Amino acid sequence: MRTDPLARSDLARELASRADIPPERARTLPGHWYASAEHHAIEMDRVFRRSWIGVGLDDDVRPSGSYLSTTVAGVPVLVVRDEQGTLRAFLNACRHRGAPLADGHGNARALQCPYHAWVYRLDGSLARAGGVGAPEGFDTGCCDLFEVRVTTFARSILVNLDPEAPDFDPGPLGPGIDPYDLARLEVVIRDRYECACNWKVLLENYSENYHTPFVHSQLPAAGYEYPMREAGPIVFAWDRPLQPRDVSEEALATSAPGEPGWERVAERSAPESFTNGAYVTLFPNTMISMFAGYAATMRLTPTSPTTTLVEREHMWGHEHDERRRRADHAATRLVVDQDLAICAAVQRTYDGGISAHGVLSTEHERGVAYVHRLLVDALSRDELPRGGDASQTSF
Ligand code: FES
Ligand SMILES: [Fe+2]
Repeated sequence: MRTDPLARSDLARELASRADIPPERARTLPGHWYASAEHHAIEMDRVFRRSWIGVGLDDDVRPSGSYLSTTVAGVPVLVVRDEQGTLRAFLNACRHRGAPLADGHGNARALQCPYHAWVYRLDGSLARAGGVGAPEGFDTGCCDLFEVRVTTFARSILVNLDPEAPDFDPGPLGPGIDPYDLARLEVVIRDRYECACNWKVLLENYSENYHTPFVHSQLPAAGYEYPMREAGPIVFAWDRPLQPRDVSEEALATSAPGEPGWERVAERSAPESFTNGAYVTLFPNTMISMFAGYAATMRLTPTSPTTTLVEREHMWGHEHDERRRRADHAATRLVVDQDLAICAAVQRTYDGGISAHGVLSTEHERGVAYVHRLLVDALSRDELPRGGDASQTSF
């Protein structure tokens, strides 16, 4: 969708008014940013087509030949583990007449197009184009699949449709996840929810703990104290009780994710679910909740201006038995149901054409202000030219 010039100048004015504002001047976003098809299309272009977007877990494409198909802002993408074990991503579109090469998850020794059976190697190169005859200028070297940039962070696969985007950089808070040793955890349960709200309602909800005592009153009250750091694409928050057994309160106050001493924080195990945890928001669509021996990832896929697919993977260490796992999952489920209910209720306000014109708490909503800042920065970029991929080829 293209925006009309008037709407563009409104957006430009709104973005200019929000550029580089300090947290104490942070305000809620305009209501139509959560409901308008036109604004949604701009976000898909400027945010989802130009940022590192979580599309799955690298477990999903582990052995060579494994693949996973998905869409990012409507663009079909195929993630593949090639014969050398390298993770690759391509546009999921045959270089003949554009048919998708694969659907869902699977494993294959080569990628054969279902339409006219052109065959691609796992590295995306065209191996065979049976029956193509002799089109002028054609040879198999001209028609490799269009490559998409891909990397991994905390077991999540991230892709970026923008060939010009900077390499993925988690920033100084990235090492804060290391003590949780996610690689040793086993994915046991996956959940999918269709949520009746704009993706940003969920993103904001995850990036603050202000609502926890009210929306999740079953959780330990101590969780209300909620240190938080923001840097690069990450908001990193953790529960107050999460501290090394042998380190003073003062040390806790000065120990932050990625800093010396933080590695001992994760050693503290809790007798029950959710009495300690660390929470990472990786802008724009990936979240990771980490506890001792248990972690849950969460990905947001906008499916319309007012709906979002939420996918979660729950993983545990071997030290947690079936009973504990069931308890963790049930506790998570309750929390998610409570979050979805309040998020859907907030969305109804925006659907009604109302803006809150609200302020953000300087104590408890710094994470919200920060993801808004990242959003404003992303929206301030130009759109990617459509058809840019096709211009990469000389054929
Ligand atoms: S579209 Fe793939 S072989 Fe024709
Ligand atoms: Fe919540």
